[in-house]
Parts: sequence; structure tokens; C-alpha cells
Amino acid sequence: MKNKINFLDLGFQPLANNYLKKGQLNKKEKKYRLKIGINTDTKLVSINKPISSKLMFNNKYPYRSSMSKTMLKSFKNLAISINKKFKPKKILEIGSNDGSFIKNFSKKKVIGIEPCSNIEKITKKKGFNTYSLYWNTKTAKRILKKEGKVDLIYSANTISHIENLDEVFKSINILLNNHGTLIIEDPSLLECLKKNTYDQFYNEHIYVFSLIGIENILKKYDFEIFHIQNLEIHGGSNRYFIKKRTNKKPIFSSVNNQRKKEINYGIQKISTYKKFAKRVKFSKRRLKKIFLKIISKNKKIIGYGVTAKSSTILNYCKIDKEFISYFIDTTKDKQNKYTPGTKIPILKYQGFIKKDIDFVFLGAWNFKKEIFNKEKKFIKRGGKFIIHTPRPRIL
Ligand code: TMP
Repeated sequence: MKNKINFLDLGFQPLANNYLKKGQLNKKEKKYRLKIGINTDTKLVSINKPISSKLMFNNKYPYRSSMSKTMLKSFKNLAISINKKFKPKKILEIGSNDGSFIKNFSKKKVIGIEPCSNIEKITKKKGFNTYSLYWNTKTAKRILKKEGKVDLIYSANTISHIENLDEVFKSINILLNNHGTLIIEDPSLLECLKKNTYDQFYNEHIYVFSLIGIENILKKYDFEIFHIQNLEIHGGSNRYFIKKRTNKKPIFSSVNNQRKKEINYGIQKISTYKKFAKRVKFSKRRLKKIFLKIISKNKKIIGYGVTAKSSTILNYCKIDKEFISYFIDTTKDKQNKYTPGTKIPILKYQGFIKKDIDFVFLGAWNFKKEIFNKEKKFIKRGGKFIIHTPRPRIL
């Protein structure tokens, strides 16, 4: 693409959520070159060659949004505020995962769309109106026929996973009534650049959005952002409140403030991304140094929280089972498997960190507060965490 400039190369990466079974350990894994670029027209930042959604989002998808108290609390608070402020009669969620958001509403009021059938089944079993479908115009037309228009569409950490944004917003246009509200929530590019969290880029995260980038797409569909909230979720996310231009609701000052913050940081300038790429290379060297030093002292390191994000870090920095003895994680579908590419065993979280562990690499750094609260005993006995953001260090 002529109008795209690549600024970062994260090397060859396996599918970030493709946890390996024991029998797959000796088989060659498929890897994909992960380069990140910016579209100089739209200012959208994206990965180079997105992989087919069917390969990533299928009936074996392991991610569960209900695994974190932070996420559950955030969804609950949002649901309360939606009912108060917008009083919607019908709500649709794109990417409803295991129902952590829709469960806060009456079953008659909500519709969930979730392409990964293994997770969609969880909500269906509980009596929710969910469909195992990818989000596109075909799906929107089908829902329109069956359910009619909706007043509110919500989507968290999903739109950034879909390559064809034109199709996304066309489909939303089909289903959302003219006075309706669209709320989308995804990791923030500004926070990613500031915190050097290059691991926001992996094969599923096709885009990391800025307000400026997303506005450039929205305007094609006569949508505009009327409010924006900065969230701590996933290491810094933005929640965008969107309406049709014809709906004359006032625009909050939060939108202008965010635009100013992004412009001041240089989100539209190529030089900003070149500097970021330099910092990422430095971060790689420094993190590897920390691991090498600990291992040379015969100390034991484990990982905590196998995130798709940490897959980017481990594969980019070449940190494998020689450095991390095993990961612990609360997600059943990840346990007793191995991390993609780096083949580190994943064990069930037993409620504590074992006594023989000296250092813990925080894979789920985005839940640092929640995890530090849970692991007070480990911290009290002198246990240390390794974290890569905003720079690799020991905590
Ligand atoms: P995410 O960053 O993609 O949401 O993934 C977080 C992962 O971390 C998920 O597999 C669940 C795991 N996790 C734990 O094992 N223990 C915890 O206390 C938390 C908050 C997350």
C-alpha cells in the first residue's frame, strides 16, 4: 500500500492465542512476520498482513473476559451508567465473549454477537439471546430482520480485531436507530506509545486506535464522537461514545481535550513512530539483560497471566522455557498447554505463588493492581516482579 509506512518490525510471531498441546510441541508452528505501520492519510496504525479471522476466532478461542475482576467491575459500572443515561430498550454487543457485559442487563433487552462458538455457547446456555456470527453486513441484515433496530451498540476490544472497518461501520449503520448510541472501547495508541507497550501489537490486534485515526473512518459513515473516557483497562484504553451527525446532541469537551493531547504528543508525525521503534529495540535488550542476570544467579522465574500481549514480548525478545520455568493462569482453556512459539508450560493457578519462586514475569501487566493485591504474601517474603513497561525493571 502506497500510503502506508512501516515503522516497527517485531519479527516472526506465532498466533498469539494458539496455545500448544503436548503432542504439538515437536511440530513446526506457523509464524507470521509482524510489522507495524501507519496510514499517512487516515493516521490509522495497524499490523501489516492481517491473518484470516477464521484462523484466530473459531471454536477453540481461549480468552474469557470474566477472568478478571477489573473487567467485570468495569462492565458492571458501564451497564449502570448506560441504563441511567441512555435508557435503551434494546442493546447489542459485538464480541460478547462469555457474557461479562450482557449479564448486567435483563435477558429480553440484550443481543450478543460472538463468532467463537465455544464461548458463545456459555451465554446461550444461560438463556441469553446470542448468535455465533462474525460481525458484517450479512449478520446485521439477519439481526435486523429478526430483532429490528437497536438503541445502543457496545463493543469492547473487538473492533480493533476486524480488518475491514468500512464493513464494521456499514453494518452498525444498518442496525442502529438514528437516535441511537454506539460505544466502542479499545486500547489507546497514545498510551501504547507513552508506555512503550509494543505488545499491544499481535496478530489479533489489527489496529491500535487513536481518536484522530478513528474519527477519519467514522466521518465516512456520518458518525461522530461526542464523548471520550480514558480508562485504565488493558494498560490504557479509550471508550468512545458515538452518534449520528444528524442527532444534535452536544459534543463534550473531552473530545477536544483528547485531540489536543494526541496532537501535542505528535500522533500524526512519522518521527514519533520512529522514536517509538528505537525505544522498543532498547526495551528488548534491557529486558533480556534482566532475565540473563537473574538466571546467572540460579534464581527461579515463572510467568503470571499468559496474555496474547506477552506472546509478542516473549517471541520478540526470545525468552523461552530456558528463562521462564512455567506460567500460571486462571483460564482453564490455557492450562496444561504451552505458550505459542516459546513453548513454556502453563499451569493452573493454585491460589498462591510457590515458595521456591524468586521472580515473577508479569504477563498480565495490565492487571498489575489486581495481581499485586492478590499476591501480598509473595511480595512480603521478598518476591519480585519483572515488568517491561514503561521500561523493563524489577518491582
Ligand atoms: P488479557 O490481558 O488478554 O485480558 O489476559 C489476562 C490473562 O491473565 C488471562 O489469561 C487471565 C490471567 N489472569 C490470571 O491468571 N490471574 C489474574 O489474577 C488475572 C487478573 C488474570
